[in-house]
Amino acid sequence: MKPRVLVTRHVYPAAIPILQEHCVVDYQDSYEVMDEGRLARKLSLADGVVCQLTDPMTRAVIEAAPDLKVISQVAVGFDNIDVTAATERKVVVTNTPGVLTEATADLTFALLLAAARRLPEAERHLRSGDWQRWDVDLLCGNDVHGRTIGIVGLGRIGQAVARRARGFGMRVLYAGRQRAPAELEQELQARCVPLDTLLSESDFVSLHVPLNEDTRHMISIAQLCSMKRHAILINTARGPVIDERALIAALDEKLIGGAALDVFEHEPAVPRELLELDNVVLLPHVGSAVTSVRSLMCALAARDCAAVLGGHEAPKHVVNPEAIA
Ligand code: DGY
Repeated sequence: MKPRVLVTRHVYPAAIPILQEHCVVDYQDSYEVMDEGRLARKLSLADGVVCQLTDPMTRAVIEAAPDLKVISQVAVGFDNIDVTAATERKVVVTNTPGVLTEATADLTFALLLAAARRLPEAERHLRSGDWQRWDVDLLCGNDVHGRTIGIVGLGRIGQAVARRARGFGMRVLYAGRQRAPAELEQELQARCVPLDTLLSESDFVSLHVPLNEDTRHMISIAQLCSMKRHAILINTARGPVIDERALIAALDEKLIGGAALDVFEHEPAVPRELLELDNVVLLPHVGSAVTSVRSLMCALAARDCAAVLGGHEAPKHVVNPEAIA
């Protein structure tokens, strides 16, 4: 009998035949998000699941699925999955790194430029019919060329952002859990500094760390206070890396120059205070939202799910190799 796979939400079509070759697929072709109770009921009969970052893959859900062998996440981040609970049950967790690196770095830079040059504000001005004439000080923003960018987390996406920053003639600082190899620092012309130095010296601070207990609220009021008054904070990583209430206070008090956010602490809720501020650029978590990229992410997740269940090849992107040993 073929293993059973639940696909929790709508995916790009390429994923389904990949799964069907080795599994019986229960495809929930809908944009609806299942709550824990429904997910647990659905998974009670499944051997595998292809899920997304909106799905609460909690301990309770994982423990309600006695036959579960693989959780394949259509994303690089997997903070919605209790990996400890999965590993305890020998459930393999896979994700989709690599394919979304350049798209996410592009969007990070789009946000940086939009905030520095006040693009959304300028467009609102024009569309509202307020534009009267060219004025010498109309909607002037900040320099990008020649300024300093501080990259927090020099993983794949952080490195891709650093390459773009070099193209813009920026000075690149980074902070991370460990220092990058000398050749990489050389290639990126990036200098490793402690986080507090990065915050106090950068004109733009861009976050590229995963969400975990070490990074939750790593940017709070003390860190915001140590940034330059004109600095812009960019977040395309995960919302809870920033203490959102502290950010709102810092923007309100003009402790920093602005923020450009693709992710929020309690998505999809965006605090009213942020919506009302002019010096923020806000996007609905679209960092990797390029058709070809999202299609590859779905195919990659399906391939790894089928690989674990079919046993015909090794899964490529395993988050918890201990679960296989
Ligand atoms: C991820 O992959 O973790 C992004 O947030 C969605 O592409």
